[in-house]
Amino acid sequence: MKSIISVPLPDHPYDVVVATDGLAFLGPWLADPATLRVKPGQKLLLVSNPAIFKHYGERVIASLAEAGYAVQTCLLPAGERYKTLKSIQKIYDAALAFRLERQSALVALGGGVIGDMTGFAAATWLRGVRFIQVPTSLLAMVDASIGGKTGVNHPQGKNLIGAFHQPQLVLIDPTVLKTLPPREFRAGMAEVIKYGVIWDTALFEALEASERLDHFRYVSEELLHTILTRSCQAKAEVVAQDEKEAGLRAILNYGHTIGHGLESLTRYRGVNHGEAVAIGMVAAGHMATARGLWTEAEALRQLALIRKAGLPTQLPEGLDVEALLITLQGDKKVDQGRVRFILPQGLGAAFVCGDLSREEVLAALRRML
Ligand code: GLY
Repeated sequence: MKSIISVPLPDHPYDVVVATDGLAFLGPWLADPATLRVKPGQKLLLVSNPAIFKHYGERVIASLAEAGYAVQTCLLPAGERYKTLKSIQKIYDAALAFRLERQSALVALGGGVIGDMTGFAAATWLRGVRFIQVPTSLLAMVDASIGGKTGVNHPQGKNLIGAFHQPQLVLIDPTVLKTLPPREFRAGMAEVIKYGVIWDTALFEALEASERLDHFRYVSEELLHTILTRSCQAKAEVVAQDEKEAGLRAILNYGHTIGHGLESLTRYRGVNHGEAVAIGMVAAGHMATARGLWTEAEALRQLALIRKAGLPTQLPEGLDVEALLITLQGDKKVDQGRVRFILPQGLGAAFVCGDLSREEVLAALRRML
């Protein structure tokens, strides 16, 4: 199965290719004379982490080398806590040692952390070189790898340092998901459900029609292809309308206001990103219902999907709701002191709401204790 989704940005359009066993074709697709993404003969620095590289590194390097590229590898430790400027320095060191030039490119083989860091290194090395995203987690496939948000964390906050830098190509090979830990698969499913709620009712209904969503093994090849292509299409459409998040793109943060607050409050150890977003979507659903933007039935349909994906729907036990409210004030989405939430408006649409009172937020959170 193979689908191509275009991200039609005026200055730098690119494709997202979703293809079964696509890793083997990375080299030829990059070298395709019709697109000339990176000229054969150029240097490619492959950035990955040891676990992912062990599974897929050889296959990717063989495909790139066969297409005529000179490839070297930079391996970084896995995990959000290594998403730092120190890791970026390691990529720069490897780029320097390899004498990476303006026409060279970086290739990110990994999850969102590897993709974001490789993109940031590419945005800044020699004031910007090309890069290619080969995401290996569901979350990175449907969200992080598309749209050009790159960066690292500051000790005081997630993704505070970064740049917009679009990839030349995103290659998604769904077969790699078989080695993704099940908890990570479920985390990615939170972002998929997000697109169903905020943008694509048909995707929402396709998810509803599936018996289970909580493990790679229960999702058919056809449904997985639908999930990936529809999610990437949704992201591409939103990004094409608002590349730098001047307005519409903010709806992609559905569930993320409370979600980021939870991640930060639990020091990125209690709940992972997808789990936090799932809880945030339930909270936003309660807020929308209280405002009459959503019926109880719509909120219940969302809740059922989140449960089916094996994701949490309540606040972590013992969580201090007041502390969570304080944490929200430090969020990037705060606008002149007011926390902005993304609220659904029926199914398939959402908007940025900046006038929720503290009481409305508290009431939603209290329903989730
Ligand atoms: N992950 C949200 C965005 O790309 O805008």
